[in-house]
Amino acid sequence: MTGTQAVPTTGLTQERRVVTEIPGPRSRELIARRTVAVSAGVGTVLPVFITEAGGGILRDVDGNSLIDLGAGIAVLSVGHAAPRVVERVQEQVAKFTHTCFMVTAYEGYVAVCEALNRLTPGTHEKRSALFNSGAEAVENAIKVARAATGRTSIVAFDHAYHGRTNLTMALTAKSMPYKHSFGPFAGEVYRAPMSYPYRDGLSGAEAAAHAISIIDAQVGASETAAVILEPIQGEGGFVVPAEGFLPAISQWCTDNGVVFIADEIQTGFARTGAMFACEHEGVVPDLVTIAKAIAGGLPLAGLTGRAELMDAVHSGGLGGTYSGNPVACAAGLGAIETIEELGLVARAGHLETMILERLREMATRYPVIGEVRGRGAMIAMEFVRQGTKEPAADVCAAVAKAAHAAGVVILTCGTYGNVIRLLPPLVIAEDLLHEGLDVLDEAIGSAATAAAGD
Ligand SMILES: Cc1ncc(COP(=O)(O)O)c(C=O)c1O
Repeated sequence: MTGTQAVPTTGLTQERRVVTEIPGPRSRELIARRTVAVSAGVGTVLPVFITEAGGGILRDVDGNSLIDLGAGIAVLSVGHAAPRVVERVQEQVAKFTHTCFMVTAYEGYVAVCEALNRLTPGTHEKRSALFNSGAEAVENAIKVARAATGRTSIVAFDHAYHGRTNLTMALTAKSMPYKHSFGPFAGEVYRAPMSYPYRDGLSGAEAAAHAISIIDAQVGASETAAVILEPIQGEGGFVVPAEGFLPAISQWCTDNGVVFIADEIQTGFARTGAMFACEHEGVVPDLVTIAKAIAGGLPLAGLTGRAELMDAVHSGGLGGTYSGNPVACAAGLGAIETIEELGLVARAGHLETMILERLREMATRYPVIGEVRGRGAMIAMEFVRQGTKEPAADVCAAVAKAAHAAGVVILTCGTYGNVIRLLPPLVIAEDLLHEGLDVLDEAIGSAATAAAGD
């Protein structure tokens, strides 16, 4: 696999096929059931009900086949129903499904930790621990940093997203929908300005100096246990910091005995054209949080870091009943095998070239596209009012709605709700991806025309 070919995936035909309106009648029946059974607090971006998925295609109960450019929020990097993941899970589930690693151990857990230690940036001695979700990995990173440093303060950034538990809500920047009405939040969390070149116009060095001056003045280096940062922000709008920002923040952490935590939950595992996004700037974090693409859709998360930090915690201080479940570990090993065998890091780099070329060309025709940015197969467009940088969340929502109606799953994000983000499975066939981008192009055209007529 050179990174340029389409990847053979599952038996499901890799084509878009829209046979009803979306959502169709069967999905509408299920929406009615959902409304009286499921909490209104749980949202769904595109309320079609899925019966089968393979590669880059989702098939719904009405027989529609949708192109998936969201990969379940960056989870299905190896594609839906990736053969190695399916095989490994089937094998494991028939043997045993749970012992609780804290009660009796099994090899899969150790093998996943060995792989994480090998794959994460840096050649230093490392240790890992496994969890169920990204938020849990972040919570545990903070526990480790505090235990290892004996300090309490944590610095997170503007536009950050780290999860929905109490501590991770405190770390997350955006109020609606993540934090609104859910406070009070965990204490000793401080916020620093993020490098956001499109909006702050600063170089990486300038943005880092600004952030560091605020941390020094308002938190105090000697009080700070950790700085947590997404190397490319996910939910916050696929914000790629200016070159030099990450290395400068990381260096300040090293100089001040502060633990530098890279939250690679969305960016990690080949997504950005490197195994981890920190590698693009040669940054070696002290701790890395990992989830999403690690296990081809099974709930698994990891925390990997310097051995002296990870081992600073007392025995029994980290864990959880289901953490590192054997079936999830088997899926993780299948996903890692797939990424390595199919060369998905290189493939993400190839998709970057393809997608950027298409989106940049669209940006020349649609002035509502303020910026196209991203790395690998993590690419976004920020929508603005023509001729300004005023966020245009309504245009963004209209684009997503039109794409959904045409059978393409795309996601929005951003502090201002004005960013379309593309996160296709890395195995997606090129013609399918192009077709998805054709639909996106038309969707922007109709939304931009409607906006111009307002
Ligand atoms: C960067 C980042 N951190 C943490 C999380 C939380 O992960 P989870 O939803 O698995 O708890 C996410 C999820 O989107 C994320 O993108």
